[in-house]
Formats: sequence, C-alpha cells, structure tokens
Amino acid sequence: MHPDEFVLPIFFDEKLSEVKINDSMPGVRTFPLGGYDGIASGIQSSGVNSVLVFGVPAEKDSQGSGAYAADGVVQKAICGIKENSDILVIADLCLCEYTDHGHCGILDKSGWVKNDETLELYAKTAVSQAAAGADIIAPSGMMDGQISAVRTALDDAGFKEIPIMAYSAKFYSAYYGPFRDVACSAPGHGDRAGYQMPCGNRKEAIREIELDTEEGADIIMVKPAGPYLDIVRDAAEMFDLPLAAYQVSGEYAMIKAAARNGWIDEGRAMMESLLGIKRAGADIIITYFAEEAARKLI
Ligand code: PBG
Ligand code: ZN
Repeated sequence: MHPDEFVLPIFFDEKLSEVKINDSMPGVRTFPLGGYDGIASGIQSSGVNSVLVFGVPAEKDSQGSGAYAADGVVQKAICGIKENSDILVIADLCLCEYTDHGHCGILDKSGWVKNDETLELYAKTAVSQAAAGADIIAPSGMMDGQISAVRTALDDAGFKEIPIMAYSAKFYSAYYGPFRDVACSAPGHGDRAGYQMPCGNRKEAIREIELDTEEGADIIMVKPAGPYLDIVRDAAEMFDLPLAAYQVSGEYAMIKAAARNGWIDEGRAMMESLLGIKRAGADIIITYFAEEAARKLI
C-alpha cells in the first residue's frame, strides 16, 4: 500500500467556530470554515494527498438548497482548500446533509423520493462544486441516471475535464450510522432501502456498476468495503476503470471501539482491514484511517 492510494473524508460544519471532536468516530474532526491552509498541510504531512469533502449546512430545507448554493458550506470549503493548497479535492454530491427530512433526494407528497426531479438538483450541485474548484465530483445519492445527468450538466457548463467518481455499488447498510451522526444526515422518516442496494444481491451490484460506466463514470466505487470484498473483487476483474472502495464510518468505528476497550490491536487491525481491501482489488481506498495508515507506511 501507498499513501497516494488513500482518500481522507473530511467534514465542514457551517455552524462551528472551532474544531469539533466526534464521539461516534473517534479521531475524526469536523472543521469550521476557514483555516484551510493548516488543514491541508496537516493532512499532507501524513503523506495523504486527496480528500473527500462533506458539508454540514446551518440551515436545511425540503429542497436541499444549501447543496447547490454558490456560497454554500461545501462550495466555500472547496474553494478555500483549493486556494490554499494543492491537495486533490473530491466533492461528495448528495442532498441528505442539506434536506430537512434527511433523504438523498426531494420527496413527493407521500414521502417517497422523486428520482428524476432530484437529478436536476444533482446537476446543479455538481456544477456549483466544479465552479468552486472541485477536482472530481462524486455523486453518492444512488438515484437512477445520476451519472449521465451529472456528466451532461458538467459538460454543458464547460467542465468537460472534471472526472466523476461514481458511488456505483452503494449498499443499504447499517455501517453508515456513525457518519449520519457526524453529518447530521439521518433520514427523519423511513430509510434509504428504496434507492440504496440490497446487501444480498451480487448481480445487481454488477448491473449498477455497468450502468455507471455506460453513463460516463471515470472511477467506480464499492461501498461499504469490508463486508463487500467479493463485489470489490468482481468489479476489479470485470471493469477497466479505476476502482475505489469506501471503508465506511461503521467499519472504522468498530475497530476504534474495540481498540479503546483493549480488545484488539488497533494498528494491526487497521492495516489488515486496509490491506484486505487492496488485496481484493481496490485501486483507491477511501478511509477515515488515511492519515494514521499513511504515517505507518512512510
Ligand atoms: C451521503 C453519504 C453517506 C455516506 C457517504 N455519502 C451516508 C448515507 O448514505 O447515509 C456514508 C459514509 C460513511 O458511513 O462513512 N449519501
Ligand atoms: Zn445522501
């Protein structure tokens, strides 16, 4: 493994005035806006050179309008990081941090997600993130057709060279719990089973990845990583595109929690979990351990 293969997810919260330590994800900090220079150089000192940026807005509404506001939290954070460093910035594109109901798309009267209307908002969000300076756009909402909608919008806005990292095989998973605490994005009613994938279905995962490649994905992703290493391996063998695997918040929190109780050797469990993901065939590993693991490697 090499630190260049790691991507560190980072969070910016518009309401904060100082760095917040998160209980459910020990070691993961949420940053206030500002101080980008120090944040980027701190991360780069570990050897990690890429971040996946998430925003937590001060205000949420039914349309998730903070996600595509020119002066939204994530747009400000992306712009600040790019102006103050040369770190690679990947923008997570979803509405769930920005909607008051916590779903990844906008809803109809009965509370179901409206797929095609949501695509228009993803398109706007992608363009605003690219305009803010994002190097890669990563749609994570799992609406049907999201990759072609985002590709078309980016092309039309003159961002033909901005690649898309597609959350292609994103499973409906219990392992996202700690993230939703940190990003304040738990759905207020129902769940995400309607748009994320059922965990038992291997063939559907391949179909989803295939569709994303046809729609114009430049990088494909499997998420979570650890419980889905068979899918990582299938994807590595079946597709030519660079393959990312996302070791999600729950995978991270379990290792941290066991280590805090003295039940597991944290350093070894961390490296073993990451090496397993690499061995399965991932080219890129998105992990909250990125800095810690990179420091062990250099
Ligand atoms: C937003 C998004 C989620 C994660 C990444 N992007 C949350 C979700 O789908 O509920 C989860 C990441 C993690 O658990 O570390 N759609
Ligand atoms: Zn979402």
